[in-house]
Amino acid sequence: MQKIHAAITAVGGYVPDYILTNAELEKMVDTTDEWIISRTGIKERRILKGEGKGSSDMAVEAIKVLLAKRGISPTDIELVICATTTPDMQFPATANIICDKVGMTNAWGYDVNAACSGFIFALTTGAQFIETGRHKKVIVVGVDKMSSIMNYEDRATSIIFGDGSGAVLLEPNEDGYGLMDSILRTDGSGRVHLHQKAGGSVKPASMETVMNKEHYVYQEGQTVFKFAVKNMADVAAEIMERNNLTSETVSWLVPHQANLRIISATGDRMKLPAEKVMVNIQKYGNTTNGTLPLCLWEWESKLHKGDNIVLAAFGGGFTWGSTYIRWAYDGADVNK
Ligand code: UT7
Repeated sequence: MQKIHAAITAVGGYVPDYILTNAELEKMVDTTDEWIISRTGIKERRILKGEGKGSSDMAVEAIKVLLAKRGISPTDIELVICATTTPDMQFPATANIICDKVGMTNAWGYDVNAACSGFIFALTTGAQFIETGRHKKVIVVGVDKMSSIMNYEDRATSIIFGDGSGAVLLEPNEDGYGLMDSILRTDGSGRVHLHQKAGGSVKPASMETVMNKEHYVYQEGQTVFKFAVKNMADVAAEIMERNNLTSETVSWLVPHQANLRIISATGDRMKLPAEKVMVNIQKYGNTTNGTLPLCLWEWESKLHKGDNIVLAAFGGGFTWGSTYIRWAYDGADVNK
């Protein structure tokens, strides 16, 4: 009997309407459009506006797109794994809230927190439930409302991040398509360089933590950059080698969209021409858990059955990883 692989069979995405441009940021912090584009590649990012709106609201929209494309009902879904660093609340898990809002009443769910690598970690976890035969329909959704933890007085972080969500449906495939391999890594000693200082059990929220702006993203950009360039490129090269993939046989690199320079370094290391590298950082910035599925959503119509696709990410933790997927369907067929 053929091994069961977890194949992506549908993709959905959602970005909020509000566009925060570099020109607008120039009025908020001491920066320039030219600096932001040359150092990061970002021109604009999306921001979720509206009282009472959180990550779950964006994930819901992405999942609705996916369900409609696949022509299935919310009640067909058995498990939802939500990768997020900006959950609606500390608890319960955002996955539970999403299930309720979409009407996925037969599903159970939980969140995965691996910062910018969260989508890859959640995808690999979700695939296990398909591979073991336990479930037949699993949704993995990556979502972040980064604007909720952004200090718009800090030019080093506010220019990078944006809001958005993407989701994929996993189903069993016995014809050799789907998630073929993953390499996942963590190094907790890197936590000092990228984290949120307060709001957890070590330093619960207080007047003092709010006054000290400790609920925002803290990032030592240059240090994180150095680790990201090395580790994302290394792990992408490692997964190629382990699966006998070459720059000719890889159809697409789907890189985490943190910085155009990190993306280019990873593509170069894999010896891929720029046309094979998905880049939408100029439009959305770094949406943390949203970047990879948002790329799949945008490029879906160009993907062909049998395409060899390599996903790669690096993020807070530190966490990083790469996943190799043999794409299971012709994207043009579902986007007619
Ligand atoms: O997604 C999860 C993981 N995160 C990442 O992968 C992010 C990795 N890091 C980066 O992408 C980059 O480090 C940043 C985009 C955050 C910063 O770029 P950089 O080229 O590393 O800049 P830098 O921090 O070394 O700063 C260079 C200069 C500094 O001025 P001085 O000290 O040389 O006078 C900064 O103060 O640029 C200054 N600077 C800015 N200038 C204009 C920092 N931010 C800005 C800004 N506008 N927004």
